[in-house]
Amino acid sequence: MSHSRPNGDPTPPSAPAAERQAGTTGATREVWGTRAGFVLAAVGSAVGLGNMWRFPYLTAEYGGAAFVVLFVITLLFVGIPIMLAEFTVGRRSRLSSIGAMRAAGGNRWTVIGYLFVTAAFLILTYYSVIAGWVTRYALMGIFQGFPAETGELFGAISSGWQAVAFHICFMAAVVGVVMMGIRRGIERGVIIMMPLLFLLVIALAIWAATLPGSLAGYGFYLRPDMGALFSLDTLTAAAGQAFFSLSLGSGAMLTYASYVSKQADLPREATIISFSDFGVAFIAGLAVFPIIFAFGLQAEVGESAVGALFISLPRAFVELGAIGRLIAPLFFLALFIGALTSAFSMLEIVTAAVIDEWKISRKAAALGAGSLITVCGILPAMNTDILGVLDAIAGEFLLVVGALGIALFVGWRLDNPLDEVTSGGRQVAGSLLKGWLWVLRILVPVFLAAILLTKAGDAWDAIRGLLLGS
Ligand code: TRP
Repeated sequence: MSHSRPNGDPTPPSAPAAERQAGTTGATREVWGTRAGFVLAAVGSAVGLGNMWRFPYLTAEYGGAAFVVLFVITLLFVGIPIMLAEFTVGRRSRLSSIGAMRAAGGNRWTVIGYLFVTAAFLILTYYSVIAGWVTRYALMGIFQGFPAETGELFGAISSGWQAVAFHICFMAAVVGVVMMGIRRGIERGVIIMMPLLFLLVIALAIWAATLPGSLAGYGFYLRPDMGALFSLDTLTAAAGQAFFSLSLGSGAMLTYASYVSKQADLPREATIISFSDFGVAFIAGLAVFPIIFAFGLQAEVGESAVGALFISLPRAFVELGAIGRLIAPLFFLALFIGALTSAFSMLEIVTAAVIDEWKISRKAAALGAGSLITVCGILPAMNTDILGVLDAIAGEFLLVVGALGIALFVGWRLDNPLDEVTSGGRQVAGSLLKGWLWVLRILVPVFLAAILLTKAGDAWDAIRGLLLGS
């Protein structure tokens, strides 16, 4: 599993040794050391702040079980096909976003590669700021516990020099790991961290089941409001969450797949990765809502997503006393791991593109890109309104544009995409593969175009709100 088979591509049979060194061309590119390394890295990218908080929050907001159903449907019919499309382009070209689009599609399609890198760059600037808050909460949870006034605590942590300082620390950790490369950095990191994350989330959910509020919490979380099942709003929210949560539309999966061997079974890995992501999100909700309900904090959940995570939940931990003192660090540690392994993938998108385009060393590329992102991130660290606008533009809008682009590209332009998907030799039913192409050609573009119209309005409103100061 550990190296590439020639299989018709120009890699010479002696390539494995060469592949171990980071290289700048397809022929000498690094490959994941193990199958688990690739899968866990992709799950690590997918599982992040989006799962641990945004998913439970949206579920409660948009009709409980109805949202979960729509989320799984979009995951199956839109998420997995697009992930497979990104995998196909990445492994075919064995190049990162920009080079991959140029190699597989020519200059016209390269714009999608640039879009990917831009989206990843922008998302990391503010994602790292939130991750910095999480870092602060995790450290505080471990070493001193939270003060009773968690609203003031959040105000202090999320503004001024504290927010900037922890954003810089978090970025330093991300840059350090990405500088070390695919195998020695990212793969080693996720193999240690992801199992720990799974254990933590499961343990938290089991513990939460024993709380007095657990049944009411589940009821609120999974309230079967079936009217919401047929609402366009719910569908748009579920789809947007699926893109963000599965790290689609910005080249994360494309870039990671450029380090995958030709034997890997891409459809199977895409399915495993997507359902693992959903599993963590779902279980995180089973942990969060009983805690919220045990302390009657549900009214606050509806008000603001961020406030509930950084204010209400810590308050519940304070009220839980000694147990809360034990649980809080575990919760924020899980959140921290999720954010960190997601950030690896965002920086890798930019770093790999810089390496491939400018043929400079990985260390220089990671350090350069990481520093620039860190500097730009000071703005959202100082001003949460800017953070919100960046999220609306990059986290919600650009991802959908990117996903639309890659679906059209693989559906209509890429030569023989099915050969790449089946290069591992495993037989996938031909009709399923043809179905996949038609999903990319018709279903996904129509669906995404509809969403795009809604999101464009939202992004525009956010920008206007910021400019007019309202
Ligand atoms: N999926 C991550 C989360 O749920 C966020 C993320 C990581 C991401 N890499 C990405 C989102 C690339 C979009 C693009 O928190």
